[in-house]
Amino acid sequence: DGEQSLSRSVVNSSDKINRKSGSSVFQHSVERWKINSSLVLEIRKNILRFLDAERDISVVKSSFKPGDVIHYVLDRRRTLNISQDLHSLLPEVSPMKNRRFKTCAVVGNSGILLDSGCGKEIDNHEFVIRCNLAPVVEFAADVGTKSDFITMNPSVVQRAFGGFRNESDREKFVHRLSMLNDSVLWIPAFMVKGGEKHVEWVNALILKNKLKVRTAYPSLRLIHAVRGYWLTNKVYIKRPSTGLLMYTLATRFCDEIHLYGFWPFPKDINGKPVKYHYYDDLKYRYFSNASPHRMPLEFKTLNMLHNRGALKLTTGKCI
Ligand code: CTP
Repeated sequence: DGEQSLSRSVVNSSDKINRKSGSSVFQHSVERWKINSSLVLEIRKNILRFLDAERDISVVKSSFKPGDVIHYVLDRRRTLNISQDLHSLLPEVSPMKNRRFKTCAVVGNSGILLDSGCGKEIDNHEFVIRCNLAPVVEFAADVGTKSDFITMNPSVVQRAFGGFRNESDREKFVHRLSMLNDSVLWIPAFMVKGGEKHVEWVNALILKNKLKVRTAYPSLRLIHAVRGYWLTNKVYIKRPSTGLLMYTLATRFCDEIHLYGFWPFPKDINGKPVKYHYYDDLKYRYFSNASPHRMPLEFKTLNMLHNRGALKLTTGKCI
């Protein structure tokens, strides 16, 4: 059946890729790329057996009441209280309900985007998904500015906004969110213990400043369901990265998915250094065993899906 054939082909193709060496591992043709619509439909159907992005992309207000206690998804012994603020920001219905697009861009944060000139192409997609509140204005020529859906791990508060220690950090954050207008801001608040005070601060700032952004908080089952889908297809990923999560979710809404900024390697195919993020000096940490992510494995999988016409991966310049 369809699922088995997809899993067979994932295994076969990654075997082939693994046997090759050096940069040829990552070769994919852009000129000859053509969408494989029947494969796109097959993947969507198979993913729908594990999750329905329309529903799992966010919990809704009616599922909780203030004061409810929930267990963190990846840290079941620890709990979180649903505060009044959090409850008031839960959407009434899924922010992606009945939304369908011909083409979508999922923009990862790799430095491979620098000097790509991909900004216009990215912004031309009907729906643009970005990760971790990455800055855009200063990099518009390479990354574009359109952001219909943007994720924000709670750790971003610390990493990019000084832990909200100063008024200027908070202002910078409020300004960034106000630029999003009524786009979806997707906050994985229920994954692991540690970010709850950041989530509370973010929620309080959104409410206080009456920001229009539409908040969404992924369901408790999402990460397990996404992992289940990839495991069934023999892609052994313990903790899918935000980028892979976004691709998996986007298969529900988008007929044609284009990925940019996915390149979890410190050098490009010509041996030139590539920054981990296009916008800051964070270093590569995903090659150590301590890291929960397996981005290079994810990349190989996405590369294989590109070669089969299921998605389009851009890692070079846009013409
Ligand atoms: N990414 C990539 N190559 C890089 C950096 C990022 O392919 N050099 C992709 C990954 O799929 C990643 C996404 O872009 O999840 C967003 O990047 P980032 O914000 O750096 O994600 P992290 O915070 O590092 O990881 P995560 O949010 O997934 O925990």
